[in-house]
Amino acid sequence: MTMSTSQKRYAVIGNPISHSRSPSIHQAFARQCGINLVYERILAPVDAFTTYAERFFEQGGLGLNVTVPFKEDAYHLARSNLSARAQLAAAVNTLWVDDGVIHGCNSDGMGLLSDLLRLGFNPEKSRVLMVGAGGAARGCLLPVLEAQCKELRVLNRTPERARLLVADLLAFRPEYRSRLSAGSLNDLDGVWDIVINATSASLSSQAPSLEGLQFSERSLAYDMVYGSEPTAFMTQSRALGAGCQADGLGMLVGQAAISFQIWHGVLPETDAVLDELRNVLKVS
Ligand code: ATR
Repeated sequence: MTMSTSQKRYAVIGNPISHSRSPSIHQAFARQCGINLVYERILAPVDAFTTYAERFFEQGGLGLNVTVPFKEDAYHLARSNLSARAQLAAAVNTLWVDDGVIHGCNSDGMGLLSDLLRLGFNPEKSRVLMVGAGGAARGCLLPVLEAQCKELRVLNRTPERARLLVADLLAFRPEYRSRLSAGSLNDLDGVWDIVINATSASLSSQAPSLEGLQFSERSLAYDMVYGSEPTAFMTQSRALGAGCQADGLGMLVGQAAISFQIWHGVLPETDAVLDELRNVLKVS
């Protein structure tokens, strides 16, 4: 690749990384906003994230997206300069340097929120169910609460993990005590407006076992995983009566847009990029 000196350098770092769609998303945003940049993929050995990330910034890199398995390492790297979202998520997906110091944020939750709004599902006054209590769920709780949902319940196959997650958040933000709860996959009373699958079950074409889950025609079933076909969770939710199902492609584009805004000070428009990615997925 040839690089002119006027080009700003950005990258996504992970292992594996060859599948990452971040370069094409950020390059499309940059074209839209008239910004001249290069955006690379960096494959780092699993035990060498810090070395690779620090070298990228020492060599003039301006911003790094961080993906599996390094989001926790990135959190430690930026520990003195973390956004509130990153602190609560205990994970960082966006790094940049300011005054010679590495800063970190987590844009996953805002990416989810922007996609829910795009789909016409404002969490405000809604009953929201988060299924799963791993890193994916953790990164998204605060933005959903801040959107003034009526209730947010975190359910997990291993309920203790959901309880720990909720306790962590309440220690940080006790004002959400009356709206936030945790339980097992059976704690499903009533009809839910938005159900978010943050488990990794879809990666093995499974849906979490949610016996008694009730949707209405106005409910959304949202899977953070995406693919060329509807996920098992989306299919299950449709059979249970959810009026709308969506996968996590919009969240991917949404979190990239928030990272782009952090780095460049402008929030790009996401619809065209999302349509383009969806078409690529269909033919791949
Ligand atoms: P991530 O960082 O992607 O969230 P993780 O931390 O490994 O990954 O968490 C995976 C989540 O998916 C967990 O909530 C896990 O439930 P447990 O904590 O009980 O393991 C959940 N999960 C994975 N496979 C599942 C399945 N088949 N049914 C229900 N939950 C599942």
